[in-house]
Amino acid sequence: MIEIAQPDDWHVHLRDGPMLGRVAGETARQFGRAIVMPNLDPPVQTTEEAVAYRQRILKSLPENSSFEPLMTLYLTAETTAAEIQRAADSGVVFGVKLYPKGATTNAEAGVDRLDKMAPLLEAMERYRLPLLIHGESTDPHCDVFDREEVFLEEWLAPTVERHAGLRVVFEHITTKKAVDYVSEAPDRVGATLTPQHLLLNRNALFAGGLRPHHYCLPVLKRERDRQALLAAATSGDSHFFLGTDSAPHSRSSKESACGCAGIYSAPIALELYAQAFASVDALERLEGFASHFGADFYGLPRNRQKRKLRRSAWTVSENPSGDSDAPQVFWAGQSLDYQLVDEG
Ligand code: NCD
Ligand code: ZN
Repeated sequence: MIEIAQPDDWHVHLRDGPMLGRVAGETARQFGRAIVMPNLDPPVQTTEEAVAYRQRILKSLPENSSFEPLMTLYLTAETTAAEIQRAADSGVVFGVKLYPKGATTNAEAGVDRLDKMAPLLEAMERYRLPLLIHGESTDPHCDVFDREEVFLEEWLAPTVERHAGLRVVFEHITTKKAVDYVSEAPDRVGATLTPQHLLLNRNALFAGGLRPHHYCLPVLKRERDRQALLAAATSGDSHFFLGTDSAPHSRSSKESACGCAGIYSAPIALELYAQAFASVDALERLEGFASHFGADFYGLPRNRQKRKLRRSAWTVSENPSGDSDAPQVFWAGQSLDYQLVDEG
């Protein structure tokens, strides 16, 4: 049995409508708080929209839930410095998300150049609202496996340098290059790591055939990248913290001629991280990564409650809801060595 402070998820997609009703409770069962991504259709662009979305999330939770959704705004060409200030003052919005235009699911309203955004980034510096970045180049000539590296060189590093007070989260990093950059970066730069990038390399996309449930963006990378990510997660370096990027899609939209990007891990997220940490005998480092460093980065108090993970092998259910179009849970049919103990 291991006991750690209640973890938080610093990057999750909860969606809206019926999908929200299906998935929000799963994240709330695992985590105390979560940074909720704004890539709805249409995107969450204003503080008012974030407040309304937060209400819909709270309504979809079980009655006794103490889960706190931490909202984000979607940065577009229309975002204003006044909106950044409103968001920072709201007590409801905790970050502004940058999607390079077209980079991923619902990123069409994203940003195609950062140079014009300087006044907004200055507003984020002034009001201490972190910029959360999906770090992939959208240059159509860029190889899909090089997108993160190219983005790091062309967008991310220059932005961090130019805006010396800007707090930045390099989201769901996937490469050794990104690990090396973040570990040398100032403390105002952090990075989230997903369970899939700690557990799998890109071979998993093609294991015995095409595996749509292993497809997410940024796409899985080489084994040497996975090893660098796992070393970073288990190093005790506070730049690196937990962000599942749990991104549910209906089964039919994944198992399709043009399948959506996104892996749904929320129901078993902590068990997956425990599996990854145990694989390198580093479970004693899980608490910092899962429960301390993210809260510290965002300037929020660490959670006081405790959670337990019991050591016992079990198999992840293939289709717990019985609905054939429900989002497929990552790792379905495979076994895990730890199980989260429910509270109460
Ligand atoms: C996310 C989604 O489906 O919203 N998909 C994904 O593959 N990670 C978007 C994102 O975070 O890139
Ligand atoms: Zn995401």
